[in-house]
Amino acid sequence: MYMKQIDNITYYNILEIIEIFPSKGETEGSIRKHFEKGLLKGKKIKEDWYATKEDLAEFIGNKEGVNMFFTDPQEIDLNNINLKGKILDIGGGGEGIIGQLKGNSVVSIDLRKSELEEALESGDKESLKIIMDAKDLKFLDNTFDTITAFFSIMYMPKNDYQKIFKEIYRVLKEEGELVIWDLIIPQKRDAKKDLYIILMKVNFNRKKIITGYGTRWDKEQDIDYFIDIADNIGFKIIDQNLKEDYFILRLRKT
Ligand SMILES: C[S@@+](CC[C@H](N)C(=O)[O-])C[C@H]1O[C@@H](n2cnc3c(N)ncnc32)[C@H](O)[C@@H]1O
Repeated sequence: MYMKQIDNITYYNILEIIEIFPSKGETEGSIRKHFEKGLLKGKKIKEDWYATKEDLAEFIGNKEGVNMFFTDPQEIDLNNINLKGKILDIGGGGEGIIGQLKGNSVVSIDLRKSELEEALESGDKESLKIIMDAKDLKFLDNTFDTITAFFSIMYMPKNDYQKIFKEIYRVLKEEGELVIWDLIIPQKRDAKKDLYIILMKVNFNRKKIITGYGTRWDKEQDIDYFIDIADNIGFKIIDQNLKEDYFILRLRKT
C-alpha cells in the first residue's frame, strides 16, 4: 500500500484510487485532471495527488447521483477458510466469490438471473447456479454440509432474516455449518448519506478480487443481531470473528 497517514487521516494516491475505489472508466490521467480542476478535492504533496475516502465518496457520488459513505478499505483472506462438503451459497451472484473458491461443490442461488450471469462472467464457472429465493429454498431438509452467505444477507430486508435463517437451518444437515460474512452497519450519522458501502480486496488461490458491497443506509445491524436470530432458531455459535466494519460468524445446526 502506498497510502499516506497524516494526522490520523488516510490519504490515497492515484494508483490506489483506481485500484480500490469504484471509479469506472477512470485512468491515472483522468483522475489527475479531476484533481487539477478541483472536481475531486485532494491534497498535492510534492508532485503527487492524494484524496481521502470522504473526498472520493463525494466525487463518485456526484458522478453516480447518489450520496455514499465508504468504510475504510478492507482485506479478506479466504485461503484458510474451512468450508466442508456440499455447499449452498445464498445470494451467490455478483462476484460469485464462494463459487470461485469452491467450484463444483457449490450450489449458488440468487433471486436475480442477471447476478448469476455476472458471477459466471467474473470467473465462477463451475458452481451450479439456480434462480431461487432464500426465503423459500427448494431443497429437501438436511441436504447441505455447509451454507455460506458472503455479504449477501445485508442485501435482504431485515424483516426476512428470520424466515431466511429458518430455511437455512432446515436444509442444512445435522452438524452442518452456516458461515456468514456481513457488514456492521452503524446508526446513520449523516442524514444525507443514502448508501453504506464496504470496499474490499478478497484474496484466495492467488487471486485478488477488488470489489465493494453496498446497501441503502436505512438499517442498522451488528453480529449480536444475527446471533440472537440464530440462537432462537437453534443454531450453536461456533466462532465469532469481529473486524472493524464486518464480521464472520460460524454457526452449527445441532
Ligand atoms: C451483491 S450479492 C452478494 C455478494 C456475492 N455473494 C459475491 O460473492 O459477490 C447479493 C445478492 O443477494 C441477492 N439477493 C437479494 N435478496 C435475495 C433473496 N431473497 N434470495 C436470494 N438472493 C437474494 C441479490 O440479488 C444479490 O445478487
